[in-house]
Amino acid sequence: MGAERHFLDVSALDTVTLHKIIGRGRAFKGELAAGKMSQPLAGKTLVLIFEKPSTRTRVSFQVGMQQLGGMVVVMSEKESQLGHGETIVDTARVLSRYADAIMIRTDNPQKLAELAAFGSVPVINGLTDESHPCQIMADVMTFEEHRGSIEGKTVAWSGAGNNVASSWIHAAVRFGFKLRLGCPATHSPSPAALAWAATEGGDVAVVETAEEAVDGANLVVTDAWVSMGDENPEMRHQVLLPFCVDEKLMARARPDALFMHCLPAHRGEEAADAVLDGPQSVIWDEAENRLHVQKGILSWCMS
Ligand code: CP
Ligand code: NVA
Repeated sequence: MGAERHFLDVSALDTVTLHKIIGRGRAFKGELAAGKMSQPLAGKTLVLIFEKPSTRTRVSFQVGMQQLGGMVVVMSEKESQLGHGETIVDTARVLSRYADAIMIRTDNPQKLAELAAFGSVPVINGLTDESHPCQIMADVMTFEEHRGSIEGKTVAWSGAGNNVASSWIHAAVRFGFKLRLGCPATHSPSPAALAWAATEGGDVAVVETAEEAVDGANLVVTDAWVSMGDENPEMRHQVLLPFCVDEKLMARARPDALFMHCLPAHRGEEAADAVLDGPQSVIWDEAENRLHVQKGILSWCMS
């Protein structure tokens, strides 16, 4: 790997850099609201590779790059040679000759690592089966807009221990908040992410019930019970039923607690309509902040 500024995981960057990126995102948001956009990425090109579906990631990266003055090329696995046997390594070498940065959404984090190792431009993780760092940057930005610094606060996760949960584990360490993950034993969070947090001295605990996780929390977070590529949806629904975030569960958090969901939501499954659309929900700000914080990521990567 060369000296490129990759955005591969929250755990891969230091706290100062992460705060700097969020600060840039906040500044870009302010500029946009004031109608005076700077275009620091004029003449630059970003390639977006999608091996899984997306609405927010695709549109927010495309709009964000264009607002920064740059151009975007979107590639899907099926419509490119990636889906017909060309390796990630060769793809990395070729795309590096055309583009100034590459974002990839894929299943295996090994592909992300290969893209970064064999290309010669910055690589951004737009979700793998193991993490979703851009999402958590937007989430931290959103929490801090509403409630001030997240440091020392308590974040509760209720649901499957999935890729988004792993990025919350990474963020708990880097941003210094407490994280309680309520997950069924069959779908507990990534042992690697938990082990990393333990090594780093993070305040991260896995508990058996949603109630235990949510009691007194400043922020309650959930996500789909069945992530893209997950098997056994019926079994997952059965064991995850007690982890649905409904009004009764939300009432156990602090009265000023916020609710987040990275979306897309499966209404009535992982979260009730009354919570998704309720007064504590900041899900639309969260989705919007993907745009602003990713502009921070793009400008940091390419500066
Ligand atoms: N939250 C998120 O990454 O949404 P998309 O799958 O629509 O990109
Ligand atoms: N955990 C979900 C997040 C979608 C943005 C998935 O991987 O499908």
